[in-house]
Amino acid sequence: MRLRHVENGFDILNKHPKVITKPEKYNKKITNFFNNNNPIHIELGSGKGKFLTEMANLYPNINYFGFEKDTKVIYRWIKKINKDCPDNYYIIHSNADMLLEIFEEKSIERIYLNFSDPWPKPRHHKRRLTDKQFLDLYEVVLKKQGELHFKTDNNDLFDFSLLQLKENGWQIKLATRDLHKSNYVEDNVMTEYEEKFVIEGKNINKLVAFKK
Ligand SMILES: C[S@@+](CC[C@H](N)C(=O)[O-])C[C@H]1O[C@@H](n2cnc3c(N)ncnc32)[C@H](O)[C@@H]1O
Repeated sequence: MRLRHVENGFDILNKHPKVITKPEKYNKKITNFFNNNNPIHIELGSGKGKFLTEMANLYPNINYFGFEKDTKVIYRWIKKINKDCPDNYYIIHSNADMLLEIFEEKSIERIYLNFSDPWPKPRHHKRRLTDKQFLDLYEVVLKKQGELHFKTDNNDLFDFSLLQLKENGWQIKLATRDLHKSNYVEDNVMTEYEEKFVIEGKNINKLVAFKK
């Protein structure tokens, strides 16, 4: 069933055990969803969840939250969930700009941004997830030395992101313009978009940064 034919899309998400709708109502105690104190890693703009699901399987001692704002996209993700689904992740139905309403300060060890929307028009650059206004949110919720991991096929967005990070006092720990021809590819988990771009022969940019 396609979501445009499902009138109660939000209700379906609301009742699903893996989806957290209205996450701000948990009073910043959302990490209590996990009954342990394992590190928290989040992905902003998870799409249909391939990356997050594989990471959760690979690293059972990390707790993952995947943010996705689009109801239809989450619906396609939950249609793929079966009994083998790892326990250590939840889907957050929310916009990334709600971070401070959802998490306590200094509670997150790592933020992943994978193939974030490039917003090519200059008047839309403020919506980029590596714009200063988002970096300022990341700084609040990340623990000391917490890391931002960013991958994109879009060279212009990558240049913009490097500049924003440097201008705002972040330290670049790693940067490559061609991840798949670099040594960093060894433990790389591909996202859905990444698989598509690699088949097209595009270079994949990656950086890791932390706030000094
Ligand atoms: C280009 S797709 C990439 C999906 C996935 N990360 C991948 O690499 O395959 C970007 C996704 O991020 C979501 N997204 C964009 N901006 C967002 C925001 N501010 N908050 C939450 N999700 C967002 C979109 O709805 C879309 O599903």
